[in-house]
Amino acid sequence: MKKLLIATGICLAACAPKKNLKMTVENHSYSNYKAVKVNHLKLNLSVNFDKKELMGSAVFDIANTGAATTMILDHKSMVIDHVAVDNKEVKFEIGPQDSILGAALIIPITPETKEVAVAYHTLPEAEALQWLSPEQTHDKKQPFLFSQSQAILARTWIPLQDCPAVRFTYEATIEVPPHLMAMMSAENPTAKSKDGKYTFKQPKPIPSYLMALAVGDVEFTSLGRNSGVYAEPGMLKKCVWELADMQGMIDSAEALYGPYAWGRYDVLVLPPSFPFGGMENPVLTFATPTIIAGDRSLVSLVAHELAHSWSGNLVTNETWSDFWLNEGFTVYFEQRIMEKIYGHDYAEMLAEIGRGELQHTLDDLMQEAPDDTKLFLNLDGRNPDDGVTDIAYEKGRFFLRRIEELVGRQAWDEFVNGYFKANAFKTMNTARFIAYLNQHLLDKYPAQQQQLDINTWIYGTGLPKDAPVVNSKELKRVNEAVARYTKSKNPADIDTQGYTTHHWLFLLRGMPALSMADMAALDKAFGFTGIGNAEIACDWYTLAAKYGYADAFDEMGIFLKSVGRRKFLMPIYKNLVKTTTGKALAEQIFSEARKGYHAVASGSIEDLIREAQPK
Ligand code: BES
Ligand code: ZN
Repeated sequence: MKKLLIATGICLAACAPKKNLKMTVENHSYSNYKAVKVNHLKLNLSVNFDKKELMGSAVFDIANTGAATTMILDHKSMVIDHVAVDNKEVKFEIGPQDSILGAALIIPITPETKEVAVAYHTLPEAEALQWLSPEQTHDKKQPFLFSQSQAILARTWIPLQDCPAVRFTYEATIEVPPHLMAMMSAENPTAKSKDGKYTFKQPKPIPSYLMALAVGDVEFTSLGRNSGVYAEPGMLKKCVWELADMQGMIDSAEALYGPYAWGRYDVLVLPPSFPFGGMENPVLTFATPTIIAGDRSLVSLVAHELAHSWSGNLVTNETWSDFWLNEGFTVYFEQRIMEKIYGHDYAEMLAEIGRGELQHTLDDLMQEAPDDTKLFLNLDGRNPDDGVTDIAYEKGRFFLRRIEELVGRQAWDEFVNGYFKANAFKTMNTARFIAYLNQHLLDKYPAQQQQLDINTWIYGTGLPKDAPVVNSKELKRVNEAVARYTKSKNPADIDTQGYTTHHWLFLLRGMPALSMADMAALDKAFGFTGIGNAEIACDWYTLAAKYGYADAFDEMGIFLKSVGRRKFLMPIYKNLVKTTTGKALAEQIFSEARKGYHAVASGSIEDLIREAQPK
């Protein structure tokens, strides 16, 4: 966000000196991070499930290199109890509230200030945090808490410089009720402590959006040399089986793009309300339980989050407009890991699925918001969440794949290796990436450089004509089945032997317009309604919503109330709200389901329903 001028009449929290404060907001953060360097954070929190509250302090080691008179932190949905500067209590000010950004916390400092300590407690509505009752967990015995900080929600549970361009190390002391384990984006305990106290150290500098905390009744099983899985006891065995290839993924990733920088790589499988598929919290990826499909068919998600250990966590997008650098690289890298372990055909199948998703997003966005089909996004005054679309992921991936196609895999891989190494623990923005790409790769390939229109790829809308074409052998079979079925409308013409999750998805996505009788016949033949695989369920209920196939509505309602992953919820709700009756159903389901959703998911659905114009 470029220089958005914030009102000058500041609300005074602690009867601070009256003066007019002019403030600018850059990169979705109020913080003056260029003047005031945070080096290290000491976090001390106690977790109170009854009050849905974290209470304690955040203590920053700083260097006031810009000789600023204030240190400005981001904060939202929390109460600041008091602030001390070098152990002396000071009066602080709070800037105006913004519904997206929260407010500035303004702390007087001197050029010599070394330490700033903020005592605070969070409010139940803190958007990063989801407090689950025992009923909302797998084992239904103990409550659960998890955080989701990306993109700008860390400020709802820690007052800090909430900006991806800022990196700091941290240590933490977390106190939780007995019988629960605390875990963070740091090296974690493998067993519960007796007194509910846990300490953590993250010695590598990370951006705020990678701050993470989870508390629950979980256990750990090792998967290999430096990997393991955490889950509720009742599902740990299934998780261990599903994620058996994880150590191999780490080894493959290192063979591709250099040493893994974070020590251990563990995955925490969360309760089903987790709003994302996965979140690349350093050392401890958070994952949705919907990847535990029972056939290892959805483990590419782990490859994705693991890949972020390089693209994103080592080399970090400088602003949320550069988000494609995080995600595009990660989808590309994810595919390379999958290819190494499961072979070219499997990886190409995933790529073709991704290409289809990209097309779908392009078709939507070119109508509604063509500028959002650019890789480099304008997020001025917007929620960075608006930029989380397949454009960053898939258009980003195909851009990088196009470069590989042009210069060849060997030169490309050398470049990527060097890129991660040279920029490790630093930030990257789009303009500097283009310069780096030219200098370290394309300048050596002038003919190819000529062929690649970087500006169109990055600053243009839509998908450039030279986008790589994917033709997966696996999916060709499905295409042929779709063609036969389109003519006959006879489900028996679809030979589903050996189908994996992705074959089914491709089949459902390729379907011609369907009548109610077609839907019923497909359902009868393949048993879609009530299916346990959440990916397939999502696609099927999306069709049911689109065509008003009411026989599936009960199970669709159950699905929408039991899963909180936004990617699965949105397409179903989106299709429901297109008609008046569908919208009424969506509202009814949402009214019951929303208490189980994370704020990130319920917020998106609320917007969707509010803006719906049913026909
Ligand atoms: N870092 C993202 C999740 C994210 C992005 C959260 C932006 C908040 C804001 C994570 O790595 C991700 O991309 N997850 C995907 C899974 C992946 C396999 C495409 C998801 O959650 O669906
Ligand atoms: Zn990602």
